[in-house]
Amino acid sequence: MPTMLVTGAGRGLGLALVEAYARRGWRVHACCRNPERAYALRGIAGDVVLHRLDVRDQTAYRPLADALVGEAIDVLIANAGIPGPEDRIEMLDVPAWFEAFHVNSIAPLVLAGALRRHVARSAERKMIAISSILGSIGDNRSGGLYAYRCSKAALNMAWRSLACELRGEGIVCAVVHPGWIRTAMGGEGAPLAPGEAAEALFALIAGLDLGRSGCFLDPRGRECPW
Ligand SMILES: NC(=O)c1ccc[n+]([C@@H]2O[C@H](COP(=O)([O-])OP(=O)(O)OC[C@H]3O[C@@H](n4cnc5c(N)ncnc54)[C@H](OP(=O)(O)O)[C@@H]3O)[C@@H](O)[C@H]2O)c1
Repeated sequence: MPTMLVTGAGRGLGLALVEAYARRGWRVHACCRNPERAYALRGIAGDVVLHRLDVRDQTAYRPLADALVGEAIDVLIANAGIPGPEDRIEMLDVPAWFEAFHVNSIAPLVLAGALRRHVARSAERKMIAISSILGSIGDNRSGGLYAYRCSKAALNMAWRSLACELRGEGIVCAVVHPGWIRTAMGGEGAPLAPGEAAEALFALIAGLDLGRSGCFLDPRGRECPW
């Protein structure tokens, strides 16, 4: 069976993605900050392997790659994300901006670099970054959420470059807006349950090929404006 790896697997969309893939018999490498306390994750049936990963920890990627040595990763999903500060422009929280960029924009690229060979040796060869329509410059008509929007826009650009770099290795790189989901980040008013969002993403990712590498897609596979 194929293998996938996802970050931020302890709750929210990441947890639902683990369930969606494990239920179909995939081997799942579930990365989270605190495996000991990831009770929901530990309760998921199937071939689920937990790994400790705070995506900001530069020293954690080499041991992760080593732990997976010889394994092929068909689908890598950079999912971990934070909302960042709710800023007023008169008083920006600069350290919180740096953290938002670290988690949302830089860490996914570090992950891609660390596990590039694992993905390259797989059959499916897909790297997915969970972005947000809030990172779209073209779609931004309401403003606000400066750090979150900017960090996701930076992620989009990083993944587009990654798609260019890895095309020759046959690796499909796509950024995906997963929809508005009822998680800690999305809030209770969101229309999508995490499981629904994960099912849609599973289908979307399954249908991707090199022709769609470098795209920014919504859950139904339509292109989002950059
Ligand atoms: N919810 C929405 O409506 C929505 C819409 C568009 C895009 N997204 C994107 O979807 C992704 C998942 O969001 P969500 O809604 O599931 O949010 P969430 O419920 O707040 O979950 C965020 C996840 O990211 C993890 N995380 C945060 N910082 C981390 C770090 N430094 N290292 C490792 N993991 C870290 C969290 O782990 P801990 O449990 O350890 O904190 C948690 O698993 C994010 O990239 C988000 O931007 C969400």
